[in-house]
Amino acid sequence: MKATAKAHTNIALIKYWGKRDESIILPTNSSLSLTLDGFYTTTTVDFQEELSKDIFTLNDEPVTGTAFNRVSAFLDLIRRSAGKDKLFANVQSINEVPTAAGFASSASGFAALAAAGAKAIGLELSDQELSRLTRQGSGSACRSIYGGFAEWEMGEKPDGSDSYAVPIAPADHWDVRVAAVILNATMKKVSSREGMKRTVDTSAFYSGWLDSIPQDLQQIKEGISGCDFEKVGQIAEANCLRMHATTLGAYPPFTYWLDTTMTVMQAVQAMRAEGIPAYFTIDAGPNVKVLYLPENEKTVEKTLRNIPGVTDVRLSKSGQGVTYL
Ligand code: ADP
Ligand code: DP6
Ligand code: CO
Repeated sequence: MKATAKAHTNIALIKYWGKRDESIILPTNSSLSLTLDGFYTTTTVDFQEELSKDIFTLNDEPVTGTAFNRVSAFLDLIRRSAGKDKLFANVQSINEVPTAAGFASSASGFAALAAAGAKAIGLELSDQELSRLTRQGSGSACRSIYGGFAEWEMGEKPDGSDSYAVPIAPADHWDVRVAAVILNATMKKVSSREGMKRTVDTSAFYSGWLDSIPQDLQQIKEGISGCDFEKVGQIAEANCLRMHATTLGAYPPFTYWLDTTMTVMQAVQAMRAEGIPAYFTIDAGPNVKVLYLPENEKTVEKTLRNIPGVTDVRLSKSGQGVTYL
């Protein structure tokens, strides 16, 4: 009863930012992402009759506390589905992505855990069923089941049966690239979970955020199907800024940005003024992801590396969905 799965992170171009149900993770808005080949998690789940509780090791270190509880609660869902409530697992995971730093480790982490766990216990799930299950570990993870562009449809039903991700375009539809600009890869002070909750509960700007989503989604999907880079980039950048604006309207107010985050944003806008199409987006953390086209890779990389405060730049193509090893 052992299986290993690999899942890539994804970067949201239209952000998921808020829950309408915290326990089974139902979002307040639909979201859309690009799966990245450069960042991933590999997880092995081994269910063993002789264990009396779960064990979770991340990057060869035993994990306790909240991160352990999240994994164990997620395994409970898998056990329940399989009718094996008392079967515990040894989980070993390696993140080829900084953990809890705004690089979507929860997305690759829970997608790999869900895929390996379901397979190890003998559940045969369709992609849709796997995405629906994965959603309950970390919302953004439900999109990492697929390669390329994926949309998490928020759904309407209180039981979450219609809330899962669907593929929009596979990785080979369009060679769009992403440079991850690393400024600070340490753990963030406000987790995505906590940050979005505070925003939903208190931000004066939250309703404006929600009102803007349907049009962003419709237009970005047109842009993706027509491979219209300017359109996709403009919408993604504006959507990111609107999401981050909601945190400034929260109480207590907060931001994920550092001064260097702003510097990178301005450098990207300056590249555009020079005729290089490049756009940024930022998840819940200070680091910036820059969207660009392959023909501009050298210029974009060089420009980003020359910015003071940038510690590393990692280039990524569009990645594949979940695979089993
Ligand atoms: P991120 O930007 O990295 O997604 P989050 O605050 O959303 O940050 O989530 C980070 C949390 O995700 C970690 O504290 C941990 O609980 C969980 N996580 C990260 N990697 C893994 C993994 N490989 N397996 C299981 N859980 C993970
Ligand atoms: C800003 O999926 O990490 O990256 O569902 O509580 O685990 P939980 O949160 P998470 O939130 C991601 C927020 C975001 C935007 C996005 O990925 O869509
Ligand atoms: Co996350």
